[in-house]
Amino acid sequence: MEKIYLDHAATSPVHPEVLETTYETMKNFYGNASSIHGFGREARHLLDDARSVFAKSIGAKQSEIVITSGGTESDNTAVIETALSRESMGKHLITSKVEHHAILEPMEYLESLGFEVTYLPVDEFGQVDPELVQSAIRPDTTLVSIMYGNNEVGTLMNIAEIGAIVAETESYFHTDAVQAYGLEEIDVKRSQIDLLSVSAHKINGPKGVGFLYVSEAIHLPSFMRGGEQETKRRAGTENIPAIAGFKKAVEIMQAEKVQRKEAYNTLKQQVVSELTEAGIDFEVNGASENGLAHVLSLWIKEIPSDQLLMNLDLMGIAISAGSACTAGNIEPSHVLTAMYGENNPRVSQSVRVSFGLGTEPQMIHELVEKLVIVVNRLKK
Ligand SMILES: Cc1ncc(COP(=O)(O)O)c(C=O)c1O
Repeated sequence: MEKIYLDHAATSPVHPEVLETTYETMKNFYGNASSIHGFGREARHLLDDARSVFAKSIGAKQSEIVITSGGTESDNTAVIETALSRESMGKHLITSKVEHHAILEPMEYLESLGFEVTYLPVDEFGQVDPELVQSAIRPDTTLVSIMYGNNEVGTLMNIAEIGAIVAETESYFHTDAVQAYGLEEIDVKRSQIDLLSVSAHKINGPKGVGFLYVSEAIHLPSFMRGGEQETKRRAGTENIPAIAGFKKAVEIMQAEKVQRKEAYNTLKQQVVSELTEAGIDFEVNGASENGLAHVLSLWIKEIPSDQLLMNLDLMGIAISAGSACTAGNIEPSHVLTAMYGENNPRVSQSVRVSFGLGTEPQMIHELVEKLVIVVNRLKK
């Protein structure tokens, strides 16, 4: 049975050129980038090159990129270090109810330390109203963290508008761009972003690597303490092969961005029209047309999402329910709960289909075919 992977928002397959670059780098450049001999200098050169590509991709300076182990570390660093280092200025933080757990958990941790967190609500499209951000900001607010694009329903937030609001205050503005990076045009200066999180494995790069953009206008202490790597902002010997692979993934994504976005939007329309033709009773969650091109959340009416998922898995098709980063654990989605309310059937009857490298129209066709079989079986 040919397996079909439609869960690219959870993680994506490594691009063959990324694999090659990572392997060749691991084989040939094993020097420690902090060493001053030739082996070290070669590794340092690769690191500097990669940093420059990352910086350019978001309109930042090379010195503003801190390489991390991925989205979770970038998010944790941005939230926890900002809060702790600015504690004397205030203990109030703002975020939204639909953030990834890599933001929500650190926020809860900070609450346990005596910080106060405002969790902004969203509308039925998963949008945070910038006016709510404006009215929630207080003199003691030190951080506003609102995601760029949502991982479960694909909603894109009004980041530039929120950035402009936060820029008028003393607060820092962080955005989790883990899902948006690659397909969306991100400019940290234009959107007045102070901190931004990115992860490589969502864009066909290796797992366990990412970066945190830290504007030169702000100060952020190191989350990892030890050596003086990353100009003392993130201790630990750099994973040069993974970083070189990540750089390759960014270059490929930039070259293919426009075609990929178009292709994913077409696949989205295909899912919707084929499901409609097949007579499936469903609705799209969120603002699919204006959202992230690779994410489509569907409410398949009266079908529990865990049963649908397991049955499709047995037939060789991988999709997901809710956030896949809490994998294996299908709890009611906090995102759908925030959008539609706790008792709405959508919360337990929704699945996410997400596209990426290698997704073909034929795969969508097979997904719909098998979904019809499972839905009819489960309805009996
Ligand atoms: C929006 C968002 N933020 C953060 C993360 C965590 O990133 P990582 O898996 O690189 O730690 C994810 C992963 O799914 C995500 O979708």
